[in-house]
Amino acid sequence: MPRIRQSIHGQWSSRWTFILAATGSAVGLGNIWRFPYLTAENGGGAFVLIYLVCVALIGIPVMMAEILIGRRGRQSPINTMETLAIEAGDNPHWKWVGWFGVLAGFLILSYYSVIGGWTLSYVLYTASNSFTNATADGVGFIFSDLVGSPSTLIAWHSVFMLFAIVVVARGVKGGLEVAVKYMMPALFIMLLIMVAYSTTTGEFVRTLKYLFTFDLDTLEKNTGSIILAAMGQAFFSLSIGMGAIMVYGSYLQRDASIFKASVGIALADTMVALLAGLAIFPIVFAYNMEPNEGAGLIFKTLPIAFGKMPGGTFFGTMFFLLLAFAAWTSAISLIEPAVAWLVENKNLKRRYAASYIGIACWFLGLLTVFSFNDLSDFHPFSFIDPFGDLGKKTIFVLIDSLTSKIMLPLGGIFIAVFAIFIMSREATRDELDLGDGFAYKTWRVLVTIAPITVGIVFLNAIGVLT
Ligand code: PHE
Repeated sequence: MPRIRQSIHGQWSSRWTFILAATGSAVGLGNIWRFPYLTAENGGGAFVLIYLVCVALIGIPVMMAEILIGRRGRQSPINTMETLAIEAGDNPHWKWVGWFGVLAGFLILSYYSVIGGWTLSYVLYTASNSFTNATADGVGFIFSDLVGSPSTLIAWHSVFMLFAIVVVARGVKGGLEVAVKYMMPALFIMLLIMVAYSTTTGEFVRTLKYLFTFDLDTLEKNTGSIILAAMGQAFFSLSIGMGAIMVYGSYLQRDASIFKASVGIALADTMVALLAGLAIFPIVFAYNMEPNEGAGLIFKTLPIAFGKMPGGTFFGTMFFLLLAFAAWTSAISLIEPAVAWLVENKNLKRRYAASYIGIACWFLGLLTVFSFNDLSDFHPFSFIDPFGDLGKKTIFVLIDSLTSKIMLPLGGIFIAVFAIFIMSREATRDELDLGDGFAYKTWRVLVTIAPITVGIVFLNAIGVLT
């Protein structure tokens, strides 16, 4: 029966389109904006290594589970989980995992769109030569000016969200294919150019050491929170744990190899993150900046380089534009699960579904907008002393931490448990098409261990295990 199941939303035109779309979802602000500043916040090498281990041992196996569930169910994650659970003779309440993912995607997009807006505003700054020969201080001022102005942030947040709605409304296939096919490789080349420039700053070797030496000292001080941050980043960057990759998997044709696709997506995603690190940290060091600049890191560093390098105006404008495209291809995957559900269950047209969700998300995004100015001193948990750090976080940081450090990994646990303990062995074997030998068994072992590992990381982070 499952073999003839069809998605009402259509199918990718080829398996390449799926790989492109999924890579488009994975590669985004998470790689270029979030990875470098989290690396700095968590002390460098140890964070990077743990992140890489999480991508390989948890990320890829869970991504495979997510894609196979999606392809088996061929509906929005909510309905897919319900259908497959019933089919396996289990409880339809599994659909709540889908809902949980929809909520996570909604929360993530609310701030993602604001940061996407920063990127758009930087296209204009760079194109109008604002950074030509600018000093580190000058570039810093431009950034503080931007985030200090709620109205400017809201304007760009609106543009970003509007564009995301338009693309989702037209169906994920239309438009997306071109965007990913040409823009992604172009972004990759831009990053290579940036890395090449950064090798001329004289701080490249220091950067290599910073990113790739496993420094036990930093790790020992904050083990729990560094590991949690690195694991959360692996989930966030690969777009797993909330149904984005699952819904893309539901449009995937039967004959495509889920294993090869997952490895390819993870490799591309990781490469982009590492290149971003290699491009940014030499500038940080060369200008004696504090690596721990927080969310503004790339916006305070890269413009210095664009202001100095030959052709910087062109390269800089292109870079931020391509980054905005990469962000859009991720943003649309964040609401696609919800849109697909509205279309399936409420009989809405895609364009209405996309608009309602986008507008709601836009309102929620205002909390992030104000977290950088009017509400920058508002720390909702400041009354809770025992949590220490939690009391110092703005709403933006709280939403970001809640989603990537808790919701995505938790979603990942449920997806893993579902694939191993609810679905039949025949079903997963049939979808993965790896035979019944070593490869399939290894996958099963890794997906069985993943929830345990995530659980241990959680307990460790809240101090239960220390
Ligand atoms: N992976 C995207 C990025 O790195 C963000 C994202 C997370 C997209 C979760 C979809 C789901 O920018």
